[in-house]
Amino acid sequence: MVTAFAPATVANLNCGFDVLGMAIAAPGDEVSVWFNDANTVRIVEITGDEGRLSYLPEKNTATGGMLTLLQHVDCQRGVDVRIAKKMPFGSGLGSSAASAVAGVMALNRLLGSPLSKKQLVSFALDGEVIASGSRHADNVAPSMLGGIVLIRGYNPLDMIELPAPENLFCVAVYPKVEILTKEARNILPKEIPLQTAITQTGNLAGLVSALYTQDFSLLERSMTDLFAEPYRAPLIPHFHQLRQLALARQALAFGISGSGPGMFALTLTHHAAEAVSFTLQQFLQDQQIPCMTFVSTINRSGAVIVS
Ligand code: HSE
Repeated sequence: MVTAFAPATVANLNCGFDVLGMAIAAPGDEVSVWFNDANTVRIVEITGDEGRLSYLPEKNTATGGMLTLLQHVDCQRGVDVRIAKKMPFGSGLGSSAASAVAGVMALNRLLGSPLSKKQLVSFALDGEVIASGSRHADNVAPSMLGGIVLIRGYNPLDMIELPAPENLFCVAVYPKVEILTKEARNILPKEIPLQTAITQTGNLAGLVSALYTQDFSLLERSMTDLFAEPYRAPLIPHFHQLRQLALARQALAFGISGSGPGMFALTLTHHAAEAVSFTLQQFLQDQQIPCMTFVSTINRSGAVIVS
């Protein structure tokens, strides 16, 4: 039996809609696989999903990519799969991507590691698309590779691993309000005014440059989102107040994690990250909104085989 872990991710990083994502240390999902004699892929156990995920392999993100990977390597053997969901659904923290990545990572090892992690990303995307309805790689790529990944292009998939500064800390906050990625994408406009695109492009280039030069003042100036946040923020209770609180506690940046309702803040010290986490949690509790917070460094390893 092989078990793989894949971490949660913060997609978009404000100015990089569908092209930037960052892996965080925790939480994450685990998938275990072993050969069976049934000549087919079977999901034998799912834990942590409150009974919500499908046991049909073609309808589950953890196994969707495994099916295409088995076809690709022309393997006729059957595989049993156990999925341990260890992070919230519909949170914006890349839950479906983590399952999809852990699935293909574990299967690849079971098959004798025929593919590299970079090659596995497109198979994980086959799984992710089942949940999100779109082939965006900004969760899957960093969950697989770790660090901060730029998706330069999709056709073909061109992924650039950007520097991930060691002294950046991430606070992820998940208020228990469910927003499904499919729905959060449907509310976005299909066209963007030229001036908006110019501003966002400048900010994206600014953030990439800031990561290479470790210029955190430039990073702070660059991390705004004009593409998705104006439309998605109204779905997240008290979003603007939460941002003000985070910035007042020395966060360099604050925004929606992926399609939300999860949010993230970046800080330069662990102490500041804990202070931001505490403040946001207190505020949400005062508003009677249950929430979870995670403080972590950037995860540089991405998906790993745990046993
Ligand atoms: N880039 C995607 C979106 C990420 O914002 O819709 C979804 O997690």
